Formats: sequence, structure tokens, C-alpha cells
Amino acid sequence: MNSLDPCTFVLFGATGDLTQRKLGPALYALFREGLLPAQFTILAYARRDKDDEVFRSDLKASIEKHAPDLPTNDDRWREFAALCFYQRGEFDNDEGYAALAQRLEAMDAERGMPCNHLYYLAIPPEQYEMVIEHLGKAKLSQVKEGCGNWARVIVEKPFGYDIDTARRLNHTILRRFSEDQVYRIDHYLGKETVQNILVFRFANELFEPLWNRNFIDHVQITVAENIGVEGRGGYFNEAGIARDMLQNHALQILSLVAMEPPVALDAHAVRDEKVKVLRAIRPLSPDQMPHATVRGQYDGYRAEEGVPPESATETYAALRLQLDNWRWGGTPFFLRAGKYLPHRVTEVAVTFKPIPQVLFAHLQGARPNVLVIRVQPNEGIFLQVGAKEPGPAMRLKPVDMEFTYKEAFPNAPIADAYERLLLDAIRGDASLFARGDEVEEAWNLLTPILAAWRDRPADVHPYFKGTWGPAKANDLLGEGREWREP
Ligand code: BG6
Repeated sequence: MNSLDPCTFVLFGATGDLTQRKLGPALYALFREGLLPAQFTILAYARRDKDDEVFRSDLKASIEKHAPDLPTNDDRWREFAALCFYQRGEFDNDEGYAALAQRLEAMDAERGMPCNHLYYLAIPPEQYEMVIEHLGKAKLSQVKEGCGNWARVIVEKPFGYDIDTARRLNHTILRRFSEDQVYRIDHYLGKETVQNILVFRFANELFEPLWNRNFIDHVQITVAENIGVEGRGGYFNEAGIARDMLQNHALQILSLVAMEPPVALDAHAVRDEKVKVLRAIRPLSPDQMPHATVRGQYDGYRAEEGVPPESATETYAALRLQLDNWRWGGTPFFLRAGKYLPHRVTEVAVTFKPIPQVLFAHLQGARPNVLVIRVQPNEGIFLQVGAKEPGPAMRLKPVDMEFTYKEAFPNAPIADAYERLLLDAIRGDASLFARGDEVEEAWNLLTPILAAWRDRPADVHPYFKGTWGPAKANDLLGEGREWREP
């Protein structure tokens, strides 16, 4: 155990998918590793009629299903279960929150714990504002005088549906909480390899001098999945892949790849630099949309449960973005995300400029260097360089210099992103969470694109499952460039 502040984790949405798949397993894994505060309790607040015991056994069942490697038949499980409690209540009525406040007070008093509370909104986004308002009204968003040091709230994605709804949500939250109490989660930021982007760039001397428009031809960011909407058709059809993966995960990765070195590693400094990147992205005008964006829909999507038969929602999207700043002027960034692509892979591929047209450039096999940051799976970094093929003839072949996490750190398995993020929120470190202005900048970029798309449903190109999306996406790249096949 450790010296973290004692606290109660108040979970809204205790019966949902996120709790079952991610939060329950992550909290339990942290407990088993001894990483949670020595005094820690979990209080679930939800509508279903359950009691502590039922909540514990449901939690156990979901951990067994989604994290089968975590043992649940030993004393450690029983100790963990004894920390989990359930409070039944509605999200929209004052009495429920008054009862919640009382229960928290009683729990804190019983255990002699200071009243530090971390609220987690694992609920449908349309309920965020209601719950935030009620937390505020019940004074649960404030630190209780004489007891406790902090109250924090973690808000899940999607954070808004467009720029207007994101602004309104920020406004509502910031009426009740201050920015430093708010943790907007993007679970990609908790992935080891995403954090490693900063280490790779700023803890090594080699690449930073090359990391700019003078040496880099273009950057591709791919967030691909080989599954479909997996029973989330209703949600996905409203969102589309651009809201689901580009607005958050892909743009977060882009901002880490493109940012200037921050003056410090704290939440303010890092996020200041990330916001500057988002601000530097040139907005797309309506007449540029057809050349700078491509949409696709996988074959069979309209037959998915919850999807209307005439749906024009994109399950694949690619963007060509230009950053108007000194470092990147003229170097395009290509983003693509999609469902039912050939593999599940997230990676950043940085393609350097070709060598001058002397000596080897004319030989078959001569290729520009490509640096690949593989976020998942097979996490690592690969540098493609040209090598002479053995033999009497002068032939070139691109080969990989590789670093993989698995080989370099065989005894340190990569933890789930949620474990890292929950721990950071408990610690009060918001560096890996999105700030309000950051989220709004991302929506500023995407909202006009989504509006232009809405007016042109016929531009959604079909693609077959297991392919890299519509062929039209190749046109985005321009002469002499191609999408990398991860
Ligand atoms: C979520 C999206 O944010 O990320 C899902 O809503 C997607 O549609 C998921 O499947 C992918 O996360 P990961 O960590 O499996 O790459």
C-alpha cells in the first residue's frame, strides 16, 4: 500500500458496459497490485434495486468474464469485495443525492476517512449534465469544510456531440466544479505507447532535430479495428467513426506527435502545447471537403441491430490536415480510422523525405525512411531503413530496426489504460486527461466537417469487410504517397 490520499470512488453507472469491461477489472487489478490508497472504498450509485452483496457478486462475475487472469477465489478478492458498496437512487431527483451525501458521510465517519470523493460518470452522455447539476446542488462537488481535501469528477467520452454541445457541457461542469477538479477521459492517453511518444521525442537526442517539415514528408495516423459495431449500433449510428475515434483518440495522438517541447511535464504545460497544435490545424472550407476527407461504410453495416436501413453513417473516415505553424507548414498529416479493417492496429507512421536523386535513389527498392510508432498491438517502434541485399548486384531492400515492449520489458506486461488513468485521477495528476479548451478545439475542427458530410450522404463509399476502406482514400494522399499497410 502507499501514501495516497484516502478516498471514496463514487461510481455512477454501476451496471453499464464500461463498469463491467473496464472499471471493475481496473480497480480490482490496482487493488491486487497494492496501488490503491490504503484507505479506499467504492460506492456505486445506480437505479437498479440491488444491495451491497448483489453489487459485489455482479462485479465478481464481470471481472471473471472480462479479466479472467485476475483470481477471485482468494482472500484478496474478499478484502476487495468488502470495500464495495451500493446505493440505490435515481439520477434525477434531489432525495437520491441527499441520501448519497448521507451515505458518504456515514461511510467516511465509520472508517475515520477524510471526505475525498472521486465521482466517475460511466453513464449515457445525455445524463452528464443532470448528474453534474445534482452533485452541485447536493454540495457534493465541494470539499466539505473540516473534512477532506478534494472532490473530483471523471467524465467519459463522448464529451459533447459537436462544438455547441461540448461548450454547453463544459459550461455546466464549470459552474459546479473548477477545471482542476475535472478529468475528461480519453483512454488512449493512458496507453503506455501513447505516453511513450513524449519520451521518444524528448528523451532522445536523435530524432528531435529531424522532427519538422524540412525532413518529414508526411505523417499517417491509423486507428483501425477488425470488428464492427458489436451491439452498439444505436450509439454508433448517431456518432459515426469520426466522433467515435478521430475527434478524440486520433487527434490526441496527433497533438502529441506534433507538439513543441513543453516547459515542464505538468498537466498545464503539456496541455498548453497540445492545444496549440489543435489551434494550428487549418480549418477545412466546404469546397475542400471532397478532396481532404473520405468516408466509407462497411458492407453489411445497415443490417446491424439499431442501424436504420438507409443509414449514411461513416464506419471509415480519413482526413488530410495541414498544420499552419513553423515546424509543420507544408507537411500533411493523414488520419484514418475504421471498423472492419484487416487488423486491429493503432500506429503513427512518419515518412521522411526521399534521398536526393544521386547514388542510390534510382535503384529498385530505394524507399524513404519510415518511423513507425506502434501504439497497439505488438507495441513498439520500428525504423525502416534501406539495406544492401547480399549478393554481387547492388540492390536495396527496406529493412526494419525494431524495438518491441515485449522483448525489451519481458517481465513488465502492459497494464490496461484505465488502470493508469484511474490512479492518476486519484493522485490528482490531470496530464493524461483532456482539458476543456482542448476538447473544444478538437470539436472546432470537426464540427464543420461533420456538417458538410451531413449535406452529402452520397459521398459515403461502400467497402468490403477486411479491406483498408474505400479506394477513394488513396486520392487523399497525393502523388507518390501510399497508405502504409501495417
Ligand atoms: C472507444 C470507441 O473509445 O475505443 C470504440 O468508442 C472502440 O468504438 C474503442 O472500439 C477502441 O479502444 P481500444 O483501446 O480497444 O483500441
